[in-house]
Amino acid sequence: MLIFKTIAETQSACAQLRGEGRILGLVPTMGALHEGHLSLVRAARAVCDVVAVSIFVNPTQFGPTEDFSKYPRTFEDDCALLKQEGVDLIFAPTVDEMYPAGASTFVLVEGVSDRLDGASRPGHFRGVTTVVSKLFHITKPHKAFFGQKDAAQVAVLRKMVRDLNFPLQLVVCPIVRESDGLALNSRNRYLSPEERQKALVLHRALEKVKDAGAGGETSAQKLVAAARDVFAEEPSVRVDYIAVVDPDTLEEVPDVRSGALVAVAAFVGTTRLIDNIVL
Ligand code: PAF
Repeated sequence: MLIFKTIAETQSACAQLRGEGRILGLVPTMGALHEGHLSLVRAARAVCDVVAVSIFVNPTQFGPTEDFSKYPRTFEDDCALLKQEGVDLIFAPTVDEMYPAGASTFVLVEGVSDRLDGASRPGHFRGVTTVVSKLFHITKPHKAFFGQKDAAQVAVLRKMVRDLNFPLQLVVCPIVRESDGLALNSRNRYLSPEERQKALVLHRALEKVKDAGAGGETSAQKLVAAARDVFAEEPSVRVDYIAVVDPDTLEEVPDVRSGALVAVAAFVGTTRLIDNIVL
């Protein structure tokens, strides 16, 4: 398994692999890897000849009061897991390598970047699209793999790939959950045992919405109210948003008859968690 810290080495190794006619898959991550990330790696392994994983805690997608400095960094463990999964190449640059002094160019997908997490975390998606564009330019993958847990990120990246004609296929993999339903998230490791129990309210609220939808309820307002009732049972968990939206534009829809994404974000203590279902 090759481990590179520089753009030049990564660019030339990826160019060589592509030149040999191999299908290259990229799994972008911020490290602190869990089964959700490994499911992306396995999906990539299944359809690509070569799998590259980037590990980079990207400062430009964190707001000034967010957890950039305390975000879990577990590089040695991550490398061991990726080696077991048969990953071919890890790209783990420093911040200075990715953003040398004076770097002032950003990629912004207007509109969709201001919705859901983009509304709660101004500038977040500009940071995501900037770093993912750079990763795409550096590695030039045939396919790139992202998790459905970050459904808003997926919508923003899909639009970016289309609008900027990136010659690659974006592959979205299902949410991986613990046996009790908690969606896997690197930030779950911030939770105390009691908070972890409380965090299950996100999944419970979405299950209630799913049941209501299966029972024939199509009104977005009523589905949101059903989810809010569940959150009311766990008052220490602060809801950031519960939204019923079009999965591509992230604009709110009044009813779910033509399909919708139901997305929630909530603070459990100081930890912000997200989860979603597609109806
Ligand atoms: O989903 C993530 O972990 C990050 O947003 C990503 C796509 C690796 C960009 O930093």
